[in-house]
Amino acid sequence: VRLHDLPTPTLWVDLAALDHNVDVMAAARPGRSLRPHVKAFKSTALAAHVRDRGGHDAFCCATLKEVAGLVASGLGDDVLLANETLDRDRLGDLVAAATERGARVTVAVDSAETIAAAADAATNGPLAVLVDVDVGLPRCGCPPADAGRLADDARAAGLEVRGVMGYEGHVVGNPDRTWRIEQVEVSMALLRAAHDDVGGDVTSAGGTGTYDLHQWVREVQAGSYLLMDTAYARLGLPFQQALFVQATVISASAGHAVADAGLKAFGMDHGEPTVEGCDVFFTSDEHVTFTWSEGHTGPPHVGDRVRLLPAHVDPTVAYHERMWVIDAGDPEGGGEVVDAWPVDLRNW
Ligand SMILES: Cc1ncc(COP(=O)(O)O)c(C=O)c1O
Repeated sequence: VRLHDLPTPTLWVDLAALDHNVDVMAAARPGRSLRPHVKAFKSTALAAHVRDRGGHDAFCCATLKEVAGLVASGLGDDVLLANETLDRDRLGDLVAAATERGARVTVAVDSAETIAAAADAATNGPLAVLVDVDVGLPRCGCPPADAGRLADDARAAGLEVRGVMGYEGHVVGNPDRTWRIEQVEVSMALLRAAHDDVGGDVTSAGGTGTYDLHQWVREVQAGSYLLMDTAYARLGLPFQQALFVQATVISASAGHAVADAGLKAFGMDHGEPTVEGCDVFFTSDEHVTFTWSEGHTGPPHVGDRVRLLPAHVDPTVAYHERMWVIDAGDPEGGGEVVDAWPVDLRNW
């Protein structure tokens, strides 16, 4: 089966580019010095590929569904829910399942309420926490000065406190590397101060845009590096675009062409998808309308296949049920289909 035999729109992965990305990261941050973030790809099959090829066996998640899916698939050696939850019931079920499977689950906490939820869930088995610290992104995380008190409260509630995390999400996507270097320093000074009060051997931070700028933390939480997108491509990182949406030109006029992948096939919060060599005019529910320059290889014809590059990997993947794995080095018919990985961790 070839890529061009599949119905469109089709989410597909260039396996050679993915493996390049796995290898580059594994060389820079081997083993547990990287905690790959599953939110960027939401697939246990891809997580297993990253573990087997890259040698990383500790994962990071954003949702309870992601954690539960990893545990159920035998990928739960050390799973971190790098997010807050108050869902005692599902967290409790998860702890019970993890205990049965010999998996290790850790959850981020930043308040008395999230500690109480974790303590409740821990009646079903061992559950550890990291104190989540606000290092400059106005999202989750406690003020650094509160971290020690929260750690004491968690210990008093019977929870194991493994350390701290602090995600500098306001820094990771900025194309100015010098600025990123400075800001990682600023953020990690805050996390370091919190860690002095909290203790524990886990210090966790970072993302794709800062993976090589962290000296102090034990582990970096990066996920986008695996599949990449055009927003991260602007940073000039050594990772290749590995995720595409294949579409079919369903209408063509003198001045523009229309392909059958629209904003229901792409996360658009980082901008329009890219059609290489063309200008995207606009994207609507099920269509992308694009124009081409004089120098282009010729106007697209109805029935042509086009390759689109997403601007934001995480929400793009979450729109699709599976990603087709393609050997693009065998270009006949758009490349050979070598596998299909379910996006089984989508939804919540
Ligand atoms: C808590 C947390 N850590 C790390 C990341 C890094 O991900 P990326 O690889 O996209 O930079 C994210 C992404 O949003 C995140 O939410």
